[in-house]
Amino acid sequence: MAQTLRKSGESRAPVTGTAIAVRKKRSLILDIYSTAVGKKYVMAISGIAMMGFVFFHMLGNLKMYLGAAELDHYAEFLRSLLYPLAPKGAVLWILRGGLVAMLALHLHAAWSLTVLNRQARPVKYQSPRDYEVANFASRTMRYSGMTVLSFLIWHLLDLTFGVVNTVGTDSSFVREEVYANVVRSLDRWPVSVFYILANLLLGMHLRHGAWSIFQSLGWNNPRFNAWRWTFATGFALVVVIGNISFPIAVLAGIVKI
Ligand code: HEM
Repeated sequence: MAQTLRKSGESRAPVTGTAIAVRKKRSLILDIYSTAVGKKYVMAISGIAMMGFVFFHMLGNLKMYLGAAELDHYAEFLRSLLYPLAPKGAVLWILRGGLVAMLALHLHAAWSLTVLNRQARPVKYQSPRDYEVANFASRTMRYSGMTVLSFLIWHLLDLTFGVVNTVGTDSSFVREEVYANVVRSLDRWPVSVFYILANLLLGMHLRHGAWSIFQSLGWNNPRFNAWRWTFATGFALVVVIGNISFPIAVLAGIVKI
């Protein structure tokens, strides 16, 4: 019967009694990424890259306290990285490309880990969860992440593209006047409040993220827990305090045009 069904020229399948799935060849990297461990590695590595960005972005913005010339000069320095070896702005665009790639990988890994988790547990837990293990920050990572993402979209439209920077003010957005653009933006109290709230959520996201990195990379020996806690909390606090000081300083008139 099997022989009659087999067309001429077709090779015979191994007779093992088990169904053998025919798999397309994939690259090793995609093979690793298809596993939950691979996705967690991608989450961790892209997270570390973005943590580096938010830290140095906050550090650079502290130049605001030294005055307009200092901050504007710093922004010009970033645009001229490696100039004249590379054309003006080229290195900055490469760094921006890297940052967008990290964000895309982080979002994709987060989304596909959620899908994997749902597939592993299609029926919701019937009893209340043990929230000592999964604390508030860990349970709300995707909401704090989405809020930070919406903040980022507003922030880019506001201070990079200048599309919404002038809404509610009588001044215009001037590309080179980074200091003045920041003051004009944060002088509008609803914008400042939004910046403060978004940065508080960013802090929550960062703290849990910085703690989880070690777990995702497999460095979760309980002996290091106190060190992990200090690092995650300290890092989140430094970034949040730095960032929320800017809208507060503008509203208080400490940083002004
Ligand atoms: C109150 C806090 C913040 C202030 C005052 C601030 C200020 C600025 C300014 C002035 C620019 C434009 C720089 C330029 O065009 O030269 C900028 C760009 C940017 N900011 Fe922020 N920022 C803050 C918080 C954040 C946070 C929390 C994030 C990330 C979650 C972020 C991500 C970015 C990104 C991705 C860019 C675009 C960088 C580029 O295109 O080169 N910022 N920010």
